[in-house]
Amino acid sequence: MNNEFYFCDARRGLASLAAQGRCVQLCYIDPPFLTGRDFGAYADRYASLEDYYDMMRAVLQGIYAVLDPKGSLFVHIDERTHARLRLMLDEIFTPAGFRNEIIWAYQTGGRATRHFSRKHDTILFYAKSPHAYFDAMQAAVPRAQARANHMKRAVDEEGRAYRAIRSGGKIYRYYDDEGVPPSDVWEDIAHLQQRDPERTGYPTQKPLRLLERIVRCASRPGDTVMDTFAGSGTTLEAAFRLGRAFIGMDSSPEALKTVRARLKDAEMTVRMEDGGIEPASRAQE
Ligand SMILES: C[S@@+](CC[C@H](N)C(=O)[O-])C[C@H]1O[C@@H](n2cnc3c(N)ncnc32)[C@H](O)[C@@H]1O
Repeated sequence: MNNEFYFCDARRGLASLAAQGRCVQLCYIDPPFLTGRDFGAYADRYASLEDYYDMMRAVLQGIYAVLDPKGSLFVHIDERTHARLRLMLDEIFTPAGFRNEIIWAYQTGGRATRHFSRKHDTILFYAKSPHAYFDAMQAAVPRAQARANHMKRAVDEEGRAYRAIRSGGKIYRYYDDEGVPPSDVWEDIAHLQQRDPERTGYPTQKPLRLLERIVRCASRPGDTVMDTFAGSGTTLEAAFRLGRAFIGMDSSPEALKTVRARLKDAEMTVRMEDGGIEPASRAQE
């Protein structure tokens, strides 16, 4: 597997990929949310709104350029930037490329009283063409977990629980243990807790399960998965675990350090900001 990490600005890394004529099948990004905060590992601060959106436009265009015709992009954001980035993505992918606005809902953090507590992130999913690969059944959840509804519950002769509904003179059975594809509202993946063993210490780290769901459904083993704001390397770890190659990018030295430690079992070429290349090696060696 040809895994790479570009330790540089995403715009530069993407230009380098395009110049090499490379392409990726799936890209997930979790860019700065425009919080105005300094997280230590990186500062989510911009001189102006336009500075932020210019950077995002350049990155999204760069991603589009290296995305396989059957590829997809997932953009993880929140209410701060959602409206403008949705319009920007419609421009770049055309509105026909829009697939989903995924709501990732969680319960962590405090409660607001001056407005309703903001307890979800948004993940915008765009496909480059109608032929993009996607299989929601790869993340099937047991029906019992997917919905508890008013249908009458019963148990069949083999002891399997089901709910039944009569329609048009026929009875339909929906078994609890049958897999159903998830909807676009994800409430079954918790945010990382303070003492979660998954935590690397990198700020704004996302749960591995979230990335595994996306990687499973929108790519196949052997594909290349990219994250141009890799942070602690959650996307890269999900790709590696699921047999996909990965390309990570990040301009923070802390991100490079964390990714090296986290993906110590993966062969990974590191391309440095000054153009230098550290050839593929297991990070530990
Ligand atoms: C929200 S964090 C990503 C967290 C990641 N999803 C995880 O699970 O750990 C955003 C990352 O974008 C990086 N970043 C911000 N601007 C960048 C740019 N122009 N080029 C490359 N990386 C950038 C920051 O260093 C930070 O690591």
